[in-house]
Amino acid sequence: MPSKWIQRSYKRTPIPWLMRNSVSRRDVIQRCIEALGARTYLEIGVSDGRCFAAVQAPTRIGVDPIAPAPLVVAELGKPGVVYVSRTSDSFFETEAPRLLPDGVEVVFIDGLHTWAQAYRDCVNSLEYLNPDGVILLHDCLPRNEGQAMVASSPQEAATLAEAQGVPFDWAWTGDVWKAIVALRQHPDLSTCVLDCDRGVGVVRRGANEGGPRLSEADIARLRFADLKANPVELLGLRKPYHLVKALASR
Ligand SMILES: C[S@@+](CC[C@H](N)C(=O)[O-])C[C@H]1O[C@@H](n2cnc3c(N)ncnc32)[C@H](O)[C@@H]1O
Repeated sequence: MPSKWIQRSYKRTPIPWLMRNSVSRRDVIQRCIEALGARTYLEIGVSDGRCFAAVQAPTRIGVDPIAPAPLVVAELGKPGVVYVSRTSDSFFETEAPRLLPDGVEVVFIDGLHTWAQAYRDCVNSLEYLNPDGVILLHDCLPRNEGQAMVASSPQEAATLAEAQGVPFDWAWTGDVWKAIVALRQHPDLSTCVLDCDRGVGVVRRGANEGGPRLSEADIARLRFADLKANPVELLGLRKPYHLVKALASR
């Protein structure tokens, strides 16, 4: 017998919704907010605000070192909307204790595209994540060498790709995927990646679902070719409809 919330969730949004080929990060975020009855949504890396402005939640907190874009400025007049012009590290150090007194249920991490930073953003978010909450990590599934280029900005990735003669299409993810490999080493975290919108990682407290046991040095040595050869083992890659199961577990 499926749990009550799965039944409710099926009723609210029929299953074909998650079978669409074009499930977006925003669809995944909103589904999580609704399924968990989330009060607070935290987005790290807001950019022009097209995702932040579209998501609906009673409290929305955006974090990005850049000044708020016009779409975000328009949201700031609404109740429960906060924007913090800081890096994620600075946010967690100085603002999170004040802004997240009751924790957070849904965190979307989409800031600096390096695995060390993405991993740190996840670990810092776990400090505030309520027991049933979920962390979503964007850009976990590069489709080619150019997208996976290791760099600290899209411009740097483009320059490196050109120098190496690698085709570059600007759908740059960097090596964020390695943060998932690292999170899959935690025995008390359940982690997978949904095969949609550049790969959306789903991290929750719960039993580890396996995958290769790797040290930090092993993970640092992994290359895009390793990911291409073994995405299911390394990332726990799943179809988007796996989200229903991932949210029901625990
Ligand atoms: C890919 S964009 C975010 C896109 C947005 N989340 C969306 O879905 O439309 C990445 C953003 O991360 C921001 N960023 C870069 N380094 C960051 C850091 N250390 N902490 C927080 N945000 C960062 C950049 O300024 C940029 O606006």
